[in-house]
Amino acid sequence: MRKLSVRDLDVQGRRVFVRVDFNVPLAEDGSISTDARIQASLGTIQFLLKRRATVILASHLGKPDGKPDPKLSLRVVADRLSEILGKEVLFAEDCIGPETRKLVSEAPPAAVILLENLRFHPGETANDPEFCKELAGLGERYVNDAFGTAHRSHASTAGMAELFERPAAGLLMEEEIRYLASVLEAPRHPHVAIIGGSKVKDKAGVIANLLPQVDKLLIGGGLMFDFLKAQGKEIGKSISTGDSIRRAQELARNPKLVLPVDVVVAPDPDSGDKARAVPVDKIPKNQMGLDIGPKTVELFQSVLDGARTVVWAGPMGMFEKQPFDKGTTEIARTVVGLTDKGSTTVVGGGDSLAALYKFGFRDRVSHASTGGGACLQFLEGRVLPGIRALGDAYRAIRTPIVAANWKMHKVPSEARKFASELVQELRGVRNREVLVFPPTAALQVVCYELTNSVVACGGQNIHWEKSGAFTGETSAKFLVDIGCSHVLIGHSERRHLFGETDELCARKVRAALEAGLVPVFCCGEKLAEREDDRTFAVLERQLSIGLEGITEKDELVIAYEPVWAIGTGRTATPAQAQEVHRWIRSWVLRSISLEAADRTRILYGGSVKPDNIDDLMDERDVDGVLVGGASLDRESFARIVRYQT
Ligand code: 13P
Repeated sequence: MRKLSVRDLDVQGRRVFVRVDFNVPLAEDGSISTDARIQASLGTIQFLLKRRATVILASHLGKPDGKPDPKLSLRVVADRLSEILGKEVLFAEDCIGPETRKLVSEAPPAAVILLENLRFHPGETANDPEFCKELAGLGERYVNDAFGTAHRSHASTAGMAELFERPAAGLLMEEEIRYLASVLEAPRHPHVAIIGGSKVKDKAGVIANLLPQVDKLLIGGGLMFDFLKAQGKEIGKSISTGDSIRRAQELARNPKLVLPVDVVVAPDPDSGDKARAVPVDKIPKNQMGLDIGPKTVELFQSVLDGARTVVWAGPMGMFEKQPFDKGTTEIARTVVGLTDKGSTTVVGGGDSLAALYKFGFRDRVSHASTGGGACLQFLEGRVLPGIRALGDAYRAIRTPIVAANWKMHKVPSEARKFASELVQELRGVRNREVLVFPPTAALQVVCYELTNSVVACGGQNIHWEKSGAFTGETSAKFLVDIGCSHVLIGHSERRHLFGETDELCARKVRAALEAGLVPVFCCGEKLAEREDDRTFAVLERQLSIGLEGITEKDELVIAYEPVWAIGTGRTATPAQAQEVHRWIRSWVLRSISLEAADRTRILYGGSVKPDNIDDLMDERDVDGVLVGGASLDRESFARIVRYQT
């Protein structure tokens, strides 16, 4: 799923209308009970402020029914946002009208304005064209960061987007799409889904859409009783929505489905002291099932063991009440453990998110979706109106790579120790692929240390033949056998110190792909070549010869490493890097395909340090970095991996 991103827009000094989802839960006294949704949009707001844009934020709050309701005013949100940002947030008493237009047009660059609740006007939910025009008139650019409202076809989420030439996704929207699309389109296997919650009706679409992609699908929560009933079992007083039994029966025919073997029952939800676990075929008539039982937890844990992708929607039991929170807590703990080992874990749906908060695990999964209904509809495979409205100006949303080239440093014993420390240091890292390229002699011990971690391993070089009389060489087959997934090809030190030609690089690229390794193809110009204005000519030659014959099916990473910036402390400026990266992407588009251009990660290398990584990674076509010197120190590499967090 590819969309234009705020990072593609020229927003410098512009008035940018941002649809955010500030529909925060309010306490009885009208205060904000959790500001997670405000926090979730900070990335986009700060991105825009850094570029001195005037940020016009718009949201709904609750369901005011098309007329003003002081209890649902966004003023409390303006105050909270101002506290968080540490700067004034101007509040517009109405989201449209002459006063608001005046406020917006007179606001200085880098001002933040929050408009009053959009739903105080009936035009918002009716997607009224006049209302769309009024809203659109406020901004020169349009960004939608409100994933939680993307399933609504309203004026601010759908209608007004059409009035802009390049409507774009905010950073949160982008992250939501990336994670949710990745579990649907390109999951790593084994892929296990965990579906809970109370009603089959709500989840049947998600189950049906996920079944073809997953290896196993675990059923817990209230909806398990429809499945048990469908099997003809007694379910006592447990919840069941009669009309869903047929649906449960159909779904349960799929052998990938794993149902609970025991449940925790009690006379009612308030009799926690009488809770006990019983096998699923022994639920007493006068009892109610309120959680999955301990044997089911064990069964689910054994199915989840080793899963590389996990998607979880819906709690396992009535987690709001003890002791019926046990099943959900245990599963949450297991999912967090898998995240720490480098699996991709995505949690969606309002209740599962509430459960993660309750257990303090909100930040310990790869992605916790901010959308309830929107997330479920996405997982059902539906195209959400708010995402569709972002147009067809497609651009890939690529997972960044942070790679370490240790060059000829760290003998195997040092490398092993370093790798094991790195695994500890990088626990819980999300949203990144981390790679290390140790010296050949250390590959085996490092790969061993990295088993089941977030860090993958690659070689610094290969020979192009599979085996034979090539004293001193190592082929792709050896790297694969050791457990490597990647290999550097055409590093400038190999080109310039060891005389590797473009033709030789091409043979190595082919050998890597044939063996199942992902080539990280390095390219870049020397200082004299840049000064002679020959950068693009050099790259054209390196890429067209080195990557000859590459097709859209081949997975490939390209690393742009200007020779003049390597080990010299002279980093390319973000703008210089972006200029070349954009050119490389257009080369991939011309020479391979649009799909490959969207997907291929282009890394920057050359004096990357903790203090320049944030700015480099702000650039649209910089999809990661290849770090030399700064990767030899654990702390500085970890800081680079965790850039912008
Ligand atoms: P430095 O980060 O030390 O400049 O090295 C870059 C590099 O060559 C990585 O492959």
